[in-house]
Amino acid sequence: MSNPSEHPTHHPHPQPQGAPPLNSSQAQFWDERYASLPWAYGQEPNDFLRQEVDALRTTWGHFKGRRALCLADGEGRNGVYLAQLGFEVTSLDFSAQARKKALQWAQTCGVALQYTLMDLNDYDFNSNDSLALEAVGKSWDLIVAIFFQPSKPTRERLYAGLNQALSAQGHFILETKHERSSPESERYPGLATLVRDIEPLLLVTGQECARELNEGTYHQGMHEVTQLHAKKMA
Ligand SMILES: C[S@@+](CC[C@H](N)C(=O)[O-])C[C@H]1O[C@@H](n2cnc3c(N)ncnc32)[C@H](O)[C@@H]1O
Repeated sequence: MSNPSEHPTHHPHPQPQGAPPLNSSQAQFWDERYASLPWAYGQEPNDFLRQEVDALRTTWGHFKGRRALCLADGEGRNGVYLAQLGFEVTSLDFSAQARKKALQWAQTCGVALQYTLMDLNDYDFNSNDSLALEAVGKSWDLIVAIFFQPSKPTRERLYAGLNQALSAQGHFILETKHERSSPESERYPGLATLVRDIEPLLLVTGQECARELNEGTYHQGMHEVTQLHAKKMA
């Protein structure tokens, strides 16, 4: 199956007066994608996330009361899954359509999901001066980035803040597409780049591999991916 583009071209244009400070052209791309399909990436959680969270059960015993932050959570398949396991979940994404669907999905599943519209190009884990976000300034037991493929500057800035944002035993779980030669390859990094970006987090497991994706309409078939699970050093 062909792989529709994951990223809109960035065409900055003035925000309408009173609009939220989101990058509206990029958010609009995602809104249109989410409005046009029942589930762009399916309702099941990402299977690398599921596998690594299963492994965390051995360390943590249970997840009740643990705080999870899902970056770019889209339609909420991963956030809702973590909430079903007992995590208190905050999801961030800049697509209002995604938020609407995620909150409906959470309601259907009978779980609470805190979902804040946020342009992650502007998000700073460690600042509490700019955004009246419930989550800001608290520490997270788990931060998740599943197929969130920001620009290099955004990724470097955000991931440099992970160590401070995580609680003492906090973990970070990521899967991204990995492209070595596309013009957009900086958005789809390999393991060495990501390990550098998340310093001083300690790698629990990580690999670059080709694997079969079966996630909704947009993630089907064989893809090169990078998977990474890291933790804060004790
Ligand atoms: C490929 S989808 C993955 C969604 C979800 N993590 C999943 O696995 O189902 C990428 C998501 O990133 C979000 N996104 C992209 N750039 C963003 C930004 N700058 N701020 C907030 N969300 C962003 C999009 O709205 C979209 O929901």
